[in-house]
Amino acid sequence: EILADPVAKIAGVGGSRHPSIPLPVDLFGAGHRNSGGIDLSDVNILARTVAVVNDTGLVRRAGAVANAPADAAGLVRDAVSRAHAAFPGWSATTVDDRAACLDRLADLLEQDRDRLMAICVQEAFKTIPDAIGEVREAADFCRYYAQQARMHLRAIELPGPTGERNMLHLDGRGVWATIAPWNFPLAIFLGQTVAALVTGNTVVAKPAPQTPLIAQAAVELAHRAGVPRDALVLVTGGPDVGAALTGDVRVAGVAFTGSTATAKRIARTLVEDDDRPIVPLIAETGGINAMIVDSTALPEQVVADVVASSFRSAGQRCSALRLLLVQEEVADTVIEMLAGAMDTLRIGDPGDPATDVGPVIDRASYDKLMAYRANPKGQTLKTLAVPAEGLFVPPTLIRLTAIEELDREWFGPILHVATWPAGKLTETIARVNAKGYGLTMGLHSRIARAAEVAEAEAAVGNLYINRSMIGAVVGSQPFGGEGLSGTGPKAGGPHYLYRFCAERAVSVDT
Ligand code: NAD
Ligand code: ALA
Repeated sequence: EILADPVAKIAGVGGSRHPSIPLPVDLFGAGHRNSGGIDLSDVNILARTVAVVNDTGLVRRAGAVANAPADAAGLVRDAVSRAHAAFPGWSATTVDDRAACLDRLADLLEQDRDRLMAICVQEAFKTIPDAIGEVREAADFCRYYAQQARMHLRAIELPGPTGERNMLHLDGRGVWATIAPWNFPLAIFLGQTVAALVTGNTVVAKPAPQTPLIAQAAVELAHRAGVPRDALVLVTGGPDVGAALTGDVRVAGVAFTGSTATAKRIARTLVEDDDRPIVPLIAETGGINAMIVDSTALPEQVVADVVASSFRSAGQRCSALRLLLVQEEVADTVIEMLAGAMDTLRIGDPGDPATDVGPVIDRASYDKLMAYRANPKGQTLKTLAVPAEGLFVPPTLIRLTAIEELDREWFGPILHVATWPAGKLTETIARVNAKGYGLTMGLHSRIARAAEVAEAEAAVGNLYINRSMIGAVVGSQPFGGEGLSGTGPKAGGPHYLYRFCAERAVSVDT
């Protein structure tokens, strides 16, 4: 149920439509991962998608966001009241019924793919391949959690002495608040929400203020799939709404994805009221993600993986590569090849299927990134030309003299590079670990021992060896970090759903 009408709250709607686009036949390539019945090599799908992008009159412009509602506290109070009242009924449904809702939702997402992609392009400035990835990952989360719920959310009998029966039950905890970022406005928004729902909780879901429309579309589809309107309530707005939601003492758990600073604020809010129950917080946050390259790595593969990991999605992935660390002996070669590869990036209209890098999300982000580029920590080695109009941050390569110089996450297409001396792999990993984040790390090396060292030493949730560092696949690469990068539960992994459950042991003396 929509409590604040996001469409009415979008400012600056209208303006230029995307131009007509000639259709390349090989946009997605034969090897592009497919799942859930979306055939990415079907040119007709692309044709339909472009048609929707062109025909939708809504083009989000800089500064267009879901406005803060006049009465954030009232909006949230009503939403939580409804979800609270719906909890006994929803939690009494069977796991199989709830899982069936998620499977139906996955089907509906795929049927509605073109419209959802169009909203992702226009509202979040997703490129077409990224918009496809959004819908695919959202559907994957639904199907995977449905399958996991059927497999694992059963009461189990545990051993005990003769004459005693011990059962362990997994139940919903109550109302969960799910709070999402704008950079995966469909996949992450829906992923954490359906995980809470399938485990028997009701949900008040809050998307980022930049991306309310895709959230509204997702919630409407969930209701059509059979989730009762009061079991899943949407609230839109920014930090005020988020703070009111996490501050409501009836909220029994929070699943948050966003910045480290906001996660800490939420953690403080959850313990403010002495009388409030202690509730779980799942936080997935940012990172200073490094890739370490040694002299045995294949430079062509390194460069392709670095470009994809740093600049695709305009660098706006929490998993994105921020700090490239190249062994001294090969640094000049790798940097030169990388600078050349950057020239092949096509920067422009995200609705154009040929675009690799679109604009960043909003004016605030643009201003922050451009101010840093104007006065970076190191020496700018390479920067690209971008269209004159629009929030395009030029993909940029900056050379540092020390690993320690990069001390915060720059959430955009800015890559830093530094070198490390031969024989110091363990120390180099330790220097990255010392930053305190722990989301993704990469290693490019042909030495088996180097891979073993990275596996043993890297304090990260997701380690990628001899490949790119983005695009974790649901069910194959459970995703989530540690330290300043989050509380650890892995979205899209086999243990995630347990985090949303209350475990209750019942022992009966027979
Ligand atoms: P953000 O922290 O500014 O906002 C995230 C959400 O929190 C939004 O819905 C926002 O309205 C809400 N919020 C803000 N203040 C709040 C408060 N006081 N109480 C409750 N809710 C509040 O982050 P963002 O700019 O939307 O997203 C970018 C960040 O997200 C980056 O740091 C990125 O690394 C991180 N991220 C992490 C993952 C992951 O899985 N680890 C995935 C995507 C993005
Ligand atoms: N799951 C996203 C990725 O791996 C954040 O890029």
